[in-house]
Amino acid sequence: MMKLLCLIGLSLTIINALDNGLARTPPMGWMSWTAFYCEMDCEKHPHSCINEQLYMDMADRMSADGYLAVGYKGVHVDDCWMDRQRDGQGRLLSDPQRFPSGMKSLAKYMHDKGLTFGIYEDYGTKTCAGFPGSYGFLQMDAQTFADWDVDYLKLDGCNINLDLMPVGYPEMGRALNATGRPIVYSCSWPAYLINQPQKVDYNVIGESCNLWRNFDDINSSWKSIMSIISYYDHMQDKHIPTHGPGKWHDPDMLVIGNAGITPDMARAQMTIWCIWSAPLIMSNDLRNIAPVFKEILQNRAVIAVDQDPLGKMGRLVANTTDVGVYIKAMTPVDPQSGDFSYSIGILNRNAVNRNSVEFVLGRLGLNSPGGYRIDDLWSGQLVGVFKPTDNFQTIVNPTGANMFKATPVALADLKGLRFATFK
Ligand code: GLA
Repeated sequence: MMKLLCLIGLSLTIINALDNGLARTPPMGWMSWTAFYCEMDCEKHPHSCINEQLYMDMADRMSADGYLAVGYKGVHVDDCWMDRQRDGQGRLLSDPQRFPSGMKSLAKYMHDKGLTFGIYEDYGTKTCAGFPGSYGFLQMDAQTFADWDVDYLKLDGCNINLDLMPVGYPEMGRALNATGRPIVYSCSWPAYLINQPQKVDYNVIGESCNLWRNFDDINSSWKSIMSIISYYDHMQDKHIPTHGPGKWHDPDMLVIGNAGITPDMARAQMTIWCIWSAPLIMSNDLRNIAPVFKEILQNRAVIAVDQDPLGKMGRLVANTTDVGVYIKAMTPVDPQSGDFSYSIGILNRNAVNRNSVEFVLGRLGLNSPGGYRIDDLWSGQLVGVFKPTDNFQTIVNPTGANMFKATPVALADLKGLRFATFK
């Protein structure tokens, strides 16, 4: 009898945890919402309405213009893709005018290009834009998505009693697992509990979800980027220990390339999102993006910080009214001493003034006795070798950020450094 109980206990644990082995590094891709919202008038707006062509166009750009090559893999449909009614058996349908080929065929289009396919639903009775929600249909919808070869589900949380969230979100996680298809599971659960923080336990959420939104929707403005950063700064002691491979806090989409976002702001968003190891899901028009933004989005050294296998969320370690300094421990790690490499992000929130920032490396926790090789990740320039007692100085543009990588000297390539400026 004892043995039987133990076995039941074990199988329950297995069923309860998501443990799908997915999203070991933060998901990267493209999502429609913040650039195209819920435009459904394809007569008036043929190039910016939510239809299959929009996603195919973005897939084409992602594979032809180098985004896929640097890691942006997922094409994600957001709200407004559905027909207003389910079919006779209760199954979801895509809008027949705007998605005439159907979602399985759209998934195939992505897969043929080496991309993955993400879809959107809502746990409630209706999605946020009023389309059929999954409430009462979780198993059926999970199976529909698996049948369509979907790789990623964003499950929103509009139109549902908030007290049901701890029930429904794990239930959908189990339903996705039960389909046998690997599907990355993105939850909006904590975003709807923002005013009831006592009900948010990220350890519990992380058992069911691969990533989760926890704050307001982003829009293409500096104000919005700042409000997200300030919320994450405020919450970092809760976020950092609950973030890592397979379970990511999601500060929402990258708005780089959209009107209202300057190159400095774009580097600032990218710097902080990568220091956090946040999902990098762009929402912009890849058919029409200036080279400067494409370069920012495709900076491999910066992306490598985000995708570092340790998956650590960086921390704000020094702060003034204008400037925040962030540090993220990452690979390579010295096997002898255990010393980490670090990325350093320096954000200037001031909208007008450049800021000169100076700090002693050791004060921020960079204490490897042999010092560090420091590279500027935005300019691609080597800065030099610095000891923990050395001062490091940099000038940051208004609404901008600088970003560096510090590699312990024992692990760094020092070729060519003989002629570099030593501090
Ligand atoms: C919510 C989400 C957004 C988007 C819309 C769609 O607001 O937070 O990201 O999915 O719903 O209606």
